[in-house]
Amino acid sequence: MAHKTDHDVVWITGASSGIGFALVKQYLDAGWRVIASARKPGELSALFASHSLLSFLPFDVTDSDQVETVRQALLLSTEHLDCAILNAGTCEYLEMTTSPIDWEMMDRVMSVNFFGLVNSVALCLPLLKKSSCGHLVGVSSQAVQAAFPQAEAYGASKAAARYFLSSLRMDLKPFKIDVTCLLPGFVDTPLTQKNTFSMPFLMSADDAAKRMFSALQSRPFEFAFPKRLSTMLWVARHFPKWWLGKVAPR
Ligand SMILES: NC(=O)c1ccc[n+]([C@@H]2O[C@H](COP(=O)([O-])OP(=O)(O)OC[C@H]3O[C@@H](n4cnc5c(N)ncnc54)[C@H](OP(=O)(O)O)[C@@H]3O)[C@@H](O)[C@H]2O)c1
Repeated sequence: MAHKTDHDVVWITGASSGIGFALVKQYLDAGWRVIASARKPGELSALFASHSLLSFLPFDVTDSDQVETVRQALLLSTEHLDCAILNAGTCEYLEMTTSPIDWEMMDRVMSVNFFGLVNSVALCLPLLKKSSCGHLVGVSSQAVQAAFPQAEAYGASKAAARYFLSSLRMDLKPFKIDVTCLLPGFVDTPLTQKNTFSMPFLMSADDAAKRMFSALQSRPFEFAFPKRLSTMLWVARHFPKWWLGKVAPR
């Protein structure tokens, strides 16, 4: 029996740590009912006792065979979704010392960041269509604004995600579903804590989630932040030789 509620309902993927976990806290604080997904509950476990509006729905976004069964499980707790934030993601870097190119790594990154997004959209679309004003949100990255070394897989997966969302925005207009693509800069999470390079304008996950939550209220097509990084990458795009010399000095 689907849960009857006056609360707005959001489904957040990649909710067990980092940005997704911080978004869960933001939406709960704002009075939303939150259905949180990841493969394992992770940091969410600490919240269940104190938040009756939070539930966990396990989902491996790379497994298209799970889409139908997880959708049926979702339908047991809600008849519709007001918002879906498709945030699950991973990052691995290409080592040019490996020859030939590490195809398995490329496949892993594309499977989570691109095909995982496609699976998640397939799963939640029927429930978003049941809302009077559904909002579909995907998490890309500022990495798509200019090339970064060793980011062949990550950057390509996030650029593919961004294009997919832009196209989807057009196709979902007749269904009155808004589509937003988020492009965060560097956020301090387990995903970036392994990075050994400098990360300009690094922000906390709570700060990033606060900015995202606030920006999403006006349902922009895209939201890239922080602005200082956007500006730096605008320069990089327009002066590619300067950027090449800066990020890949001989
Ligand atoms: N941190 C940054 O600087 C930054 C910048 C730009 C964009 N982003 C994007 O923001 C999103 C969140 O990243 P984060 O930094 O918060 O990373 P994170 O802390 O590592 O969190 C990643 C989340 O994705 C989930 N996930 C990974 N593989 C999955 C799979 N196969 N199926 C389902 N869930 C999966 C993880 O949970 P399980 O492992 O339990 O499944 C976890 O909840 C990602 O899409 C990332 O690319 C991050």
